[in-house]
Amino acid sequence: MFTSSQLLDKINTHVEALRFSRSPKRLYAPVEYVLSMGGKRIRPLLMLMAYNLYKEDVERVYGPATGVEVYHNYTLLHDDLMDNADMRRGKAAVHKVWDDNTAILSGDAMLVLAYQYIADCPVEHLKEVLDLFSQTALEICEGQQMDMDFELRDDVLEEEYIEMIRLKTAVLLATSLKVGAILGDASREDADSLYRFGIQIGVAFQLQDDLLDVYGDAAVFGKNIGGDIICNKKTYMLIKALQHADKDQQLKLKNWLSAEQFEPSEKIESVTQLYDEIGVKAVCENLMQQYYEAAMKSLSAVNVPEEKKSELILLTKSLMCREL
Ligand code: IPE
Ligand code: IPE
Ligand code: MG
Ligand code: MG
Ligand code: MG
Repeated sequence: MFTSSQLLDKINTHVEALRFSRSPKRLYAPVEYVLSMGGKRIRPLLMLMAYNLYKEDVERVYGPATGVEVYHNYTLLHDDLMDNADMRRGKAAVHKVWDDNTAILSGDAMLVLAYQYIADCPVEHLKEVLDLFSQTALEICEGQQMDMDFELRDDVLEEEYIEMIRLKTAVLLATSLKVGAILGDASREDADSLYRFGIQIGVAFQLQDDLLDVYGDAAVFGKNIGGDIICNKKTYMLIKALQHADKDQQLKLKNWLSAEQFEPSEKIESVTQLYDEIGVKAVCENLMQQYYEAAMKSLSAVNVPEEKKSELILLTKSLMCREL
């Protein structure tokens, strides 16, 4: 059995060796650009770790593991366009280095490339893996659409927010784990427990992402701070702030949500100050903790020796306090 850092080295070496040298250059250069910026590679890592609970020959999952990472990177190209975000992994986003159309079309190409890699999977599991992956890809679109729809509403409920982040973020972590389990010939029960574990760490992961969007350090996080505040993203923190605000704070928040012309830094500073006064950071961390504990329960239901789970537990713990 490998440690998570050994598996991460393996997947990094594999992804770094990929070449996209077809023409036209303008279509493929952004693919190389975004993949060369690294990222945490947690989705392929989770797939390898789940597989490694059952089997040792981890190279057998490199195809789908590469596919899930290429797929994730495609979602980032389109997400940065939709969110009007200029920085990704500490560098200019693809739509800034090139332009919007390039980000759309290179993203489309990456979606297809992702399917080619995923289909490079042991034939006895091919149909199940492709079906699961396609369902997940649709769910991510649904989550992303909900995220956009919520920008225009100010009555988004906590449950709606959780469902939105389950779809846009958690299902891909869950599917990565489940594909690893399926390819490792795990039992149906284990594959489902690992999927549930993935949903719970995925929800906690997006809660942390939203928290870092306000309280992170741009130099470490690699994205501009305050982007969610500028776009009126209905994060858990904003929903809770609206819920717990007194009359005066409520008025100030609503004013910022409906403001059409403003200095971005002023809006970020004022809304962050309201978050601080209302204390939503701790409320958000508390919910993350609950998802973390639920995730640990799901993991304990997985029927492999406890010592084999220690790497997944360590990785989950490190994700809970990540700054990047
Ligand atoms: C960013 O994902 C998008 C979210 C779902 C929050 P990651 O935080 O995994 O991004 P990279 O791949 O490590 O850059
Ligand atoms: C991203 O959510 C989810 C997907 C890319 C599918 P965010 O919009 O919060 O991700 P970042 O913060 O841009 O990485
Ligand atoms: Mg975004
Ligand atoms: Mg987004
Ligand atoms: Mg974010």
